[in-house]
Amino acid sequence: MFPAEVTDFFKDQKTPFYYYDLDVLNATLKKIKKHGLSKGYHVHFALKANNQPKILKVIEEAGLGADCVSGGEIQRAIDSGFSPGDIAFAGVGKSDEEIELGLKHDIFCFNCESPQELEVLNELAGKQDKTARIALRLNPNVEADTHEYITTGLNENKFGINASDLDEVLEKLPELEHLKLIGIHFHIGSQIENFAPFEELCKKANALNDHIEDKGFELSVINVGGGFGINYGHPNDNSVPDFERFFELFEENIKLKDHQKLHFELGRSVVGQCGSLITKVLYTKYGQTKNFAIVDAGMTELIRPALYQAAHRIDVLTSSKPEKNYDVVGPICESSDTFRKDISIPEVKRGDLVAIRSAGAYGEVMRSAYNLREANPTIYSDEIE
Ligand code: LLP
Repeated sequence: MFPAEVTDFFKDQKTPFYYYDLDVLNATLKKIKKHGLSKGYHVHFALKANNQPKILKVIEEAGLGADCVSGGEIQRAIDSGFSPGDIAFAGVGKSDEEIELGLKHDIFCFNCESPQELEVLNELAGKQDKTARIALRLNPNVEADTHEYITTGLNENKFGINASDLDEVLEKLPELEHLKLIGIHFHIGSQIENFAPFEELCKKANALNDHIEDKGFELSVINVGGGFGINYGHPNDNSVPDFERFFELFEENIKLKDHQKLHFELGRSVVGQCGSLITKVLYTKYGQTKNFAIVDAGMTELIRPALYQAAHRIDVLTSSKPEKNYDVVGPICESSDTFRKDISIPEVKRGDLVAIRSAGAYGEVMRSAYNLREANPTIYSDEIE
């Protein structure tokens, strides 16, 4: 949990707000360096998980690249110090303006998701008299064993080029003279806690790698995407995911050729555990069947519980009374605006501070202004004396 001086500092701040513990972020990056970068792997941080400039700067300084899915993210990555040569641009629906921005900066690679996108990219690159480096995003048809909204590697999903279209795409590629194929890209889903789908992905990637190289293409990038899950139930004991096992799995299962490098696009596992949403209890309501703790954060600040039924750990920071059962809910007029149902936490009263944990990834970035709610300033651990 948080040391007393941190909780005391929180008491004077306007809630709700996001708080980032930079020690946790640095400890996470240290493990990524030790177990991943040291093996020669390239790790691109997926900005979609968190795009706070201060967080990005720490990540860039640790030696990670950037994985972007919009023009805005490309610009944010560049503004935060990432070199364009370390920026990959992914996404199933890149607009012409976004592609033009990527071309202008000569970014490392475009991860392409459809035959039509290849044609558009070729044309736009031609107009700038450039050659775009591309990786083909292939759909490996692997079941990621995660929430249906965040599984992406099945044939039924909208992502990637299906295996059945691959040969046709490869035949056409030489005609697209402003494109240079440098790699293949996969991403099977997010918050994957069971490693079996990653093993399955390696098998499929190895076969596709051989297949494409046999046709005379040289792939220098094998990009296996992101998806490594974090422990939402026990963020204190598992503040850093087990990167040693994660990278070892790929080392054991992926077959790289001499000219090839393994790339990852990790988001949640890098930043998930360093962030918390700090909120205040506004009201308590004791009913016949239920007790409610109504807090001042809502689905506008953290939509994951409403959207994916995600269960974030809730720590009460200012009460050590005996526990009671509560539904912890937000102030928005929708029943889905519920953080947790029927959880046992120390009895709370109006004004108590509560931390909703593991909110560093897909928390602040997915915030909305619904109900015209204002965003309070974000707080970093290094701002607290
Ligand atoms: N690469 C691609 C192509 C992706 O689509 C994603 C995430 C990543 C990398 C990073 O995945 P990660 O390492 O963070 O799992 N909003 C949802 C998660 C959406 C993930 C979308 N794609 C949530 O809050 O759970």
